[in-house]
Amino acid sequence: MEIRAELKDGAGVLVRTMDKDDLDRSIAFFQGLSAEDRKYLRRDVTRPEVVAERINRIGSGQVKRLVALVDDEIVADGSLELEGLGWKRHVGELRLIVAQAFKRRGLGTLMARKLFALAERENVEEIVVKMMKPQSAARHIFKRLGFHKDTVLTEYVRDQSGAIQDLIVMRCSIEELMRELEYFMADSDWQRTR
Ligand SMILES: CC(C)(COP(=O)(O)OP(=O)(O)OC[C@H]1O[C@@H](n2cnc3c(N)ncnc32)[C@H](O)[C@@H]1OP(=O)(O)O)[C@@H](O)C(=O)NCCC(=O)NCCS
Repeated sequence: MEIRAELKDGAGVLVRTMDKDDLDRSIAFFQGLSAEDRKYLRRDVTRPEVVAERINRIGSGQVKRLVALVDDEIVADGSLELEGLGWKRHVGELRLIVAQAFKRRGLGTLMARKLFALAERENVEEIVVKMMKPQSAARHIFKRLGFHKDTVLTEYVRDQSGAIQDLIVMRCSIEELMRELEYFMADSDWQRTR
């Protein structure tokens, strides 16, 4: 998958499937994140071996990864994790992170919608997103995208500093998400990233 798109302010981005040659670009992206954003990630992505392991899982079928690039630098990373044959085989877990300089420009929305379309092709029936309580931007964007079933697991996970945090799980059926997507796609170009 490879598409060129415009953000709300007209800036151009390339969104494509991540490939194994993206290792250095990906390390640079994660090392460039703010300490606050890194604090709530599931894994310590400042470690190159963690980034390498993420990339090595590409092609396993368990995870689909997309990146957004500007001037050959990664500015957003999104993934869809699939359960395979387990009891959650109809569920896809979405993860998304946007570089500070690109936030609030519609890139998160664009990436999320591309991941929804990818999930539909994989016959996923429900998308789940998980975030720690302080990740309020995530809560806002997914609510706006149509996620509504929230569950809070209190004091359930540790952030990268070691502090215990509540984990919020948001869910939405792919059918609902695709209905919303069709509505937006029928709109003008800039609306696509809204
Ligand atoms: C969550 C995240 C991906 C959003 O990316 P983004 O590119 O800024 O999102 P968009 O520009 O598409 O925002 C879409 C809408 O979400 C809401 N939103 C996004 N960030 C927000 C914030 N900080 N506060 C309030 N609302 C926010 C707004 O309604 C926004 O629309 P608007 O800008 O027209 O008001 C980004 O903030 C991020 O990378 N956060 C850290 C990682 C993370 O929390 N990931 C999610 C867990 S998987």
